[in-house]
Amino acid sequence: MSKQKSVFFCTHCGYESAKWLGKCPACDTWNTFKEEIISKTVSAPAWEEKGHRTVNKPMRLHEISSSSEKRLPVPDGELSRVLGGGLVAGSVILIGGEPGIGKSTLMLQLGLLTENLKTLYISGEESASQIKMRASRLKIEAENCYFLTETLTQAIFEEAKKLQPDLVIIDSIQTMQSSHIDAAPGSIMQIRQTASELIRYAKETNTPVFLVGHITKDGAIAGPKVLEHMVDTVLQFEGDQHFTYRILRTIKNRFGPASEMGLYEMWSSGLREVTDPSRVLISHEEGGLSGVAISAMIEGNRPLLIETQSLVSPATYGTPQRSTTGFDAKRLNMLLAVLERRCGFRLGQQDVFVNMAGGIKVTDPAVDLAICVSIVSSMEDMAVPEKTCYAGEIGLGGELRAVARVENRVAEAARLGYKTIYISKHNTLQEKVTGIAIKKFGKLNEVFEDMFG
Ligand code: TYD
Ligand code: MG
Repeated sequence: MSKQKSVFFCTHCGYESAKWLGKCPACDTWNTFKEEIISKTVSAPAWEEKGHRTVNKPMRLHEISSSSEKRLPVPDGELSRVLGGGLVAGSVILIGGEPGIGKSTLMLQLGLLTENLKTLYISGEESASQIKMRASRLKIEAENCYFLTETLTQAIFEEAKKLQPDLVIIDSIQTMQSSHIDAAPGSIMQIRQTASELIRYAKETNTPVFLVGHITKDGAIAGPKVLEHMVDTVLQFEGDQHFTYRILRTIKNRFGPASEMGLYEMWSSGLREVTDPSRVLISHEEGGLSGVAISAMIEGNRPLLIETQSLVSPATYGTPQRSTTGFDAKRLNMLLAVLERRCGFRLGQQDVFVNMAGGIKVTDPAVDLAICVSIVSSMEDMAVPEKTCYAGEIGLGGELRAVARVENRVAEAARLGYKTIYISKHNTLQEKVTGIAIKKFGKLNEVFEDMFG
């Protein structure tokens, strides 16, 4: 007889406690503790039958073969880039994202397109006929992809043993259940247990496993952050539901750079890779329009030209409004204060709206300069000179700060036919880029003087 026991978990970070707490000592959030009933019979996973387990011995460095670095190619170029150049055998990849963002679509496309790998797609959320309907939208025929609607991990391992897949996709980890514990699916205990069973399966059979995880409103994956520490790679699928662009971002990667990003476009027939992001993030009706400036930013490891738009208009109702899409609102307030105090623009009684193209969220500080230019351009109703772009961080003193990897930004701008780029005078280019004039300034108002006279 197993004795029933209950434990309290912080739903925000997964901290475990024997009694209820008002404030989590690990992540300092309030009222996040929830009780979960567990039975104490946690034993070895059922799929692991006697004799199947390989026994590892201690080894010296030169005895270890480096063949584990072999990567399985994936046909999706963006996914491949985000993973650091293909799939590592035995790795576990968590894909997080809000419901409806396209995680299932991305995983289904992967399963259907990787004809060289026998894929087992396990869905705990949709029925087989729903998956079929989705697949028919994607219009991909595949012979080497198997579907299973199952939530019990022991049953999954049973099928996996028969099928011997090269790739396993679990959609989603919140629906999985292990018979070793009694907690409800989606509870932290179950997520932790099923994830650890799946990770063991991946490591011991050398099969890559994708785990789909729904993200809660505050951005934590599945509530428990514990999952992020357990897996090898954490990818985040994000984007604005009202826009078609989706970004796949690396949050953590044991096998590659942790700051990569891939860009997709959601079509009625599935997700398409965006191979040249700069071209889609700039509307081509430049010239003549005030309030538009192009920023040369770096997203992940990729240089990317993006359009920033501003609209400045006199505030009609008392307090002026400040609103942003894709850019930090606090940062905008700081830039407005700098424009007011250091450059003498009267923005105190103006409504200011700032948008980044495509609903893309930008965190690169180098977009500061383009945002300031677009605000001033809108306020003065003077268009920015054609084929001009900007890369610079703005300091509180109105100074133009150097940005990282300026060569890549300049080269990307030159590749797209830009004739002029404004950067900080503190940036020095290691390599020479031809075909583009580089204008260097130390202060924000010097940029305005140069542009608008
Ligand atoms: P889905 O992959 O089910 O999201 P998740 O698994 O992250 O919850 O994506 C659902 C959304 O994508 C839904 O709003 C419909 C849209 N969609 C398309 O626009 N085109 C398609 O080909 C497919 C399959 C879905
Ligand atoms: Mg889904």
